[in-house]
Amino acid sequence: MHDCYNPPARFYDNLSPIMPRYVALIPAAGSGSRMRTELPKQYALLAGKPLLHHAVHVLCAHPRIEQVFIVLAPGDQRFGEYDWRACGTKLNVLYCGGETRAASVFNGLLAANDAIDGMDWVLVHDAARPCLRTTDVDRLIAEVGDSETGGLLAVPVADTLKRANAGGEVLQTEAREHLWRAQTPQMFRYRVLIEALRRADIATVTDESSAVEQTGAKPKLVQGSATNFKVTYPEDLALAELILKERG
Ligand code: C5P
Repeated sequence: MHDCYNPPARFYDNLSPIMPRYVALIPAAGSGSRMRTELPKQYALLAGKPLLHHAVHVLCAHPRIEQVFIVLAPGDQRFGEYDWRACGTKLNVLYCGGETRAASVFNGLLAANDAIDGMDWVLVHDAARPCLRTTDVDRLIAEVGDSETGGLLAVPVADTLKRANAGGEVLQTEAREHLWRAQTPQMFRYRVLIEALRRADIATVTDESSAVEQTGAKPKLVQGSATNFKVTYPEDLALAELILKERG
């Protein structure tokens, strides 16, 4: 996939617009097999709306974010079944998801090329993190917006970590000092991210930061909130619903 991509010349032309813009991209082309349901995870219902709706709504409502791109699987039939009007006019839907999350993000960036400048910031956010708070997006933008490299929301590891053998027995306890759990949004300049994904060893890329790290850059960790967790298992939906209810 990546070998046939030639960056348009404009990536390298005007790389310093005075005011870079902020756009969001939400890969939502996964099957969510760990949810153990037929329905892809992004369409699981949470407080009466698909999981994806909650993530999209926070980003569309953010005053600094100008456009929100959703990357769906080609042939996705479900998106059109829901009402997205509450998300306003920033929403753009792209039917170009790939085999992996990284491929979906890469395809989405490529498809959105005409709408984004090389120096614009792209905030990539999981469809499966419905409890993102506006204040966390504000902090990410404030702490990363002046850098060249970019960064991501994350939380320091609080639990004691055990390394297991194949039989589920403890081999050893790992030091947790300096360990963080990566979240999303992850925020990188368009040009930096698309180049990193094009060159990356896709098999080892589970988030945008890991692709950028492979170029030798050091993305910044920005303190996030534990409530911005990824809905992965069916029981996570009840917890997410409680958090959203609590916020009213
Ligand atoms: O499966 P996981 O929870 O890691 O997926 C994280 C995000 O990546 C989800 O929003 C999911 O829909 C998306 N994804 C994708 N294309 C894939 C696999 C996952 O857009 N092929």
